[in-house]
Amino acid sequence: MNEKLKVLEEKINQAELGGGQRRIENQHKKGKLTARERIHFLIDEGTFEEIGMLVTHRATDFGLDKEKYLGDGVVTGYGKVNGRLVYVYSQDFTVFGGSLSETHARKICRIMDLAMKNGAPVIGLNDSGGARIQEGVVSLGGYADIFYRNTMASGVIPQISAVMGPCAGGAVYSPAITDFILMVENTSYMFVTGPNVVKTVTHESVTSEELGGASTHSTKSGVTHFSCANEIECIETIKKMLDYIPSNCEDNAPRLPYESRDETRPQLNSIIPDNPNQPYDMREVISEVIDDGTFLEVHKNFAENIVVGFARLAGRSIGIVANQPAFLAGVLDIHASTKAARFVRFCDSFNIPLLVFEDVPGFLPGTDQEWNAIITNGAKLLYAFSEATVPRITVITRKAYGGAYDVMNSKHIGADMNYAWPTAEIAVMGAKGAAEIIFRKEIEAAEDREAKWKEKEQYYNELFANPYKAAARGYVDEVIRPEVTRTRLIRAFMMLENKAVKLPRKKHGNIPL
Ligand code: HXC
Repeated sequence: MNEKLKVLEEKINQAELGGGQRRIENQHKKGKLTARERIHFLIDEGTFEEIGMLVTHRATDFGLDKEKYLGDGVVTGYGKVNGRLVYVYSQDFTVFGGSLSETHARKICRIMDLAMKNGAPVIGLNDSGGARIQEGVVSLGGYADIFYRNTMASGVIPQISAVMGPCAGGAVYSPAITDFILMVENTSYMFVTGPNVVKTVTHESVTSEELGGASTHSTKSGVTHFSCANEIECIETIKKMLDYIPSNCEDNAPRLPYESRDETRPQLNSIIPDNPNQPYDMREVISEVIDDGTFLEVHKNFAENIVVGFARLAGRSIGIVANQPAFLAGVLDIHASTKAARFVRFCDSFNIPLLVFEDVPGFLPGTDQEWNAIITNGAKLLYAFSEATVPRITVITRKAYGGAYDVMNSKHIGADMNYAWPTAEIAVMGAKGAAEIIFRKEIEAAEDREAKWKEKEQYYNELFANPYKAAARGYVDEVIRPEVTRTRLIRAFMMLENKAVKLPRKKHGNIPL
């Protein structure tokens, strides 16, 4: 028996070394952790159970039959994060550059299948040179097997992808289908084709970092939701995020204990500037309203004219979508619409109630926006809100103009409650533009056109730059003093706790993609 135990011991030691000490050192020199170290930091101590440690590849070409590594370049298994079950795969760059073989793919699929059957999130820690070149089509097939499972799992269990090294070619599409992508600054990149191919095809000279580094994808493309300074920050962000989301679509997010106390927030009364054209930071409103320090902002540096993220209100997890008047006046454009739409759909998939703060002057005009389909992209947000069945509440802090009033979770598209502050302005458009259109003849006929215009502008403002027309119609349920916002929201979300809405029977809707 002792001999047999020794054999097992040796195999375990060998598997734990992955591609060997030299390659582990190379990994460390690049500022990267190994696959197992990453799991160590992610999973609660003593809870990780590995699956498939002794799997090896079956390729024989290019002398691969003589080069086998136990585990075949990916560590897979399950464990707990803050006491809750998760499934995890962590690619090992020290084995063939973490490249994906047939068996490597099969190991990932195995834990995805288990995750689906048992209703728990899958976390992928990606660090891979893509398809294992020596294996050819079987590795491509392996990728497709993963993409298919990613799609089937979408909306059933949360899927989170951390990109902690290269992620090239088709390898980017698995993370892209998952719910959230996190990247590590300076050591990770994602692209469909790398700088060399780009140079050949388009004659552009670009570095890997510029083409697909964390800063590019967190600011320009929006592909990644979080850009993290280092791997530890990346792993900590995953853990934090998991606390806000349920294990599967039938479940509710974990709730923290909450004791009722005085929820009045007088500071809210003084955030909106007297001048309606002056910006303010919507994050101040958010942080006053939610439980202290609980905001986890998603997509922080992308489309900053809209702010989205998770928070807690009276201990309960909520998703926040808020126009940001401090950036481009909070206007809705293509990127803001798609960013918010995707977040709304995530929250709705996983039973996370939605809270909207609205201060929006409308959709951004211009050829750039029109030619790049602001119509289709703006419609995504409209569709996402309309279809969402979770409890939904809107607070209009200031502007709610034009189509953006409808889109930003209005009651007409299914919001459950709509509050407005006395500073709210709810109208078809701003007074200046409105006066020019509806009083054009009168203004042109006037001796002092400028004065006439001003007079008409003021008239329109008095009539519409307030919440009372909307309140009179019941489009706004209550006009409230800002300081009571938190109290009202806590009560309203409690009132909506058992909300149940059935959508019309259909195969699936056809969101304007
Ligand atoms: C097999 C690979 C590999 C791959 C790297 N290695 N990528 N082995 N298949 N795809 C091996 C290397 O031979 C080397 O082995 C080790 O991993 C480390 O690689 P290095 O090149 O030394 O590391 P580094 O300089 O850090 O560069 C990493 C890299 C580079 C940028 C990822 O290796 C690279 O460009 N690899 C190829 C990327 C690629 O074109 N992949 C195919 C994409 S197409 P040793 O033995 O020296 O340690 C694709 C299609 C999928 O994925 C489509 C799905 C729809």
